Amino acid sequence: MISPATIDEVKNRMDIVDVISDFVSLKKSGQNYKALSPFTNEKTPSFFVVPAKGIFKDFSSGKGGDAITFVMEHEGMSYAEAIRFLAKKYGVAIQEEQAETSQESQERDALYILMNFAKDYYRDNLLKTEEGRSVGLTYFRERGFNDRTLEKFELGYALEGWEHFSAEAIQKGYNRELLEKAGLVVKKEDGSAYDRFRGRVIFPVHSISGKVIAFGARMLGKDKNQPKYINSPETEIYHKSNVLYGLYQAKNSIRQHDNCYLVEGYTDVISMHQSDVDNVVASSGTALTEEQIKLIRRFTENVTVLFDGDAAGIKAALRGIDMILKGGLNVRVALFPDGEDPDSYSRKVGTSAFQQFLKDHAQDFISFKAGLYAREAGGDPIRKAESIKEIVQSISLIPDPVKRSVYLQETSHQLKISEAVLITELNKILIQERKRRDRDAPVEVMPLPAETTGEEQTISKLDPSTMVYYQERETIRLLLNYADQALEDNKVASFLVQELEDVEFTNEVFRDIYGRFKEGVERGDRVDSQYFLQQGSAEIKKAVTDLLTSRYEVSPHWRDKYKIYFPGEADNLGSLTLTNVLRLKFRFVQKMMDSNLQEIKKAEEKGNWDELDEALQTQEGLKKAERELASALGIVVAR
Ligand code: GTP
Ligand code: MN
Repeated sequence: MISPATIDEVKNRMDIVDVISDFVSLKKSGQNYKALSPFTNEKTPSFFVVPAKGIFKDFSSGKGGDAITFVMEHEGMSYAEAIRFLAKKYGVAIQEEQAETSQESQERDALYILMNFAKDYYRDNLLKTEEGRSVGLTYFRERGFNDRTLEKFELGYALEGWEHFSAEAIQKGYNRELLEKAGLVVKKEDGSAYDRFRGRVIFPVHSISGKVIAFGARMLGKDKNQPKYINSPETEIYHKSNVLYGLYQAKNSIRQHDNCYLVEGYTDVISMHQSDVDNVVASSGTALTEEQIKLIRRFTENVTVLFDGDAAGIKAALRGIDMILKGGLNVRVALFPDGEDPDSYSRKVGTSAFQQFLKDHAQDFISFKAGLYAREAGGDPIRKAESIKEIVQSISLIPDPVKRSVYLQETSHQLKISEAVLITELNKILIQERKRRDRDAPVEVMPLPAETTGEEQTISKLDPSTMVYYQERETIRLLLNYADQALEDNKVASFLVQELEDVEFTNEVFRDIYGRFKEGVERGDRVDSQYFLQQGSAEIKKAVTDLLTSRYEVSPHWRDKYKIYFPGEADNLGSLTLTNVLRLKFRFVQKMMDSNLQEIKKAEEKGNWDELDEALQTQEGLKKAERELASALGIVVAR
């Protein structure tokens, strides 16, 4: 572990403009800098650097943070890797903490060096030995791999025989114990050892920064008694669930295309590279793990899963995809013709037809699944009901409520089922899920649509929960920017804290930030944005960065769309904060009315007249509050 003192030193020395300039060419714009986003393919610059605050903000991808975050995002590094990188840049000597003894880190370094040696050894076997050329190289050529590919993936060959590799390694000074720790040899009970990989072609597995951390080895003949692939075991440097094959070779392209193809195995990844589709990774035959999904998220939010078209495989694959949805990624799928996988199909049809195929056949996952189940159910109403449950189950996993509601609308059109039915089903699942997980956690159920006039409901018609979210966000923005500014006989922070006494923020991050401001007001100590940038959790830092960078330059429509104010606002803080308080309360009341409406419907269905009466009274009270707040705001309520 890097010592906190080292981290502080790096933070003291780093300069955000200097760091980012190594990767992006920045243009000065007033006090700040801007550029084309390095994270997306954009035409107008929406990437901003604010040196005074030490932060950047990329509006096209939503990423933002300090110089460390930038290096992590841009280079796909972990926090520790980014610190090391910056320490090197600024000549800071790295002190390691005791948590990782230097012995452990030395051992890991030794493993990296040995794996690199093994990789070179297997490459030499492939290219420079008689057996390697006639067996291994011939096999790769038959699969259509060219020289560039062999090099890019550092493919190799392990000679037949029990100890070619170990003999060579030991002769070069590597000790036996290390060979075993690296999983390169297998130890027998009598203490002797033999090479794990023999008479097989070798696929090195790389870490995200390109170090070899494991091998996959494929057999060549057709020996039924042997597994087709043998892989390295878990070691100190190889944790299978944290690794995606091909990510090192794919990461830049994934970012550029803002999409990641997901395939099954080594050869699929490599064949796609040969067809000039290089934003592709493999899960190595198993469903994605949470860690692997997080890895992908470092580079894109969009995944396209490619699978072969046999019916049995599809259903199994669907479950795995649910995991990806849960991880917050947007999922598309493409199905290959029966019996074909990306490897066989790309070789069969050639580069341009293959690329065209991906373009034409990639389909949104939810609509793919809906179509699949609808076809299966045919006219059978019971099976149709089951399919609805299945699809809504998938939708319920999507963390973003706005996306969920868009999917419900689309599914409603696709399956010709009313949206209300889908929403009811979704809310059931959400509530069950809440019960299962944590009784006290708030659950964001979705309000039923108001009587629709048959015209399409669009995302711009935001539900009350979303409006509450934006208004909470605006409150926090005011606090972060103006907490300490004087009002007529008060300060912004204390005014807001007084007025919002009875308000509980729904969004967790905002609640935390607000709580800290409230504490500050109560204790009389000063809280400002720097405090959160230094002490906040990663989530808080991100939210604060978002809120500190003015959105106005990028999205002039914001003001009209969400009724949120921008330039010149500092001159007008008094009425601005008051309006904000009223609006926040207004949105809360509307949200409460919406959920109370559900109570009314439920009570009606159950025929419980006492409950119904109570709920109707509540609704009356809320309506009155809504009218009062609206008139204070000068808004006419249209219902
Ligand atoms: P062919 O398509 O038959 O030429 O073989 P392939 O080398 O492309 O492998 P296949 O399509 O059968 O398998 C796809 C992926 O599943 C491989 O890349 C491996 O990651 C994994 N896999 C296949 N067979 C085995 C095995 O026996 N053991 C392990 N651990 N993984 C395997
Ligand atoms: Mn295959």
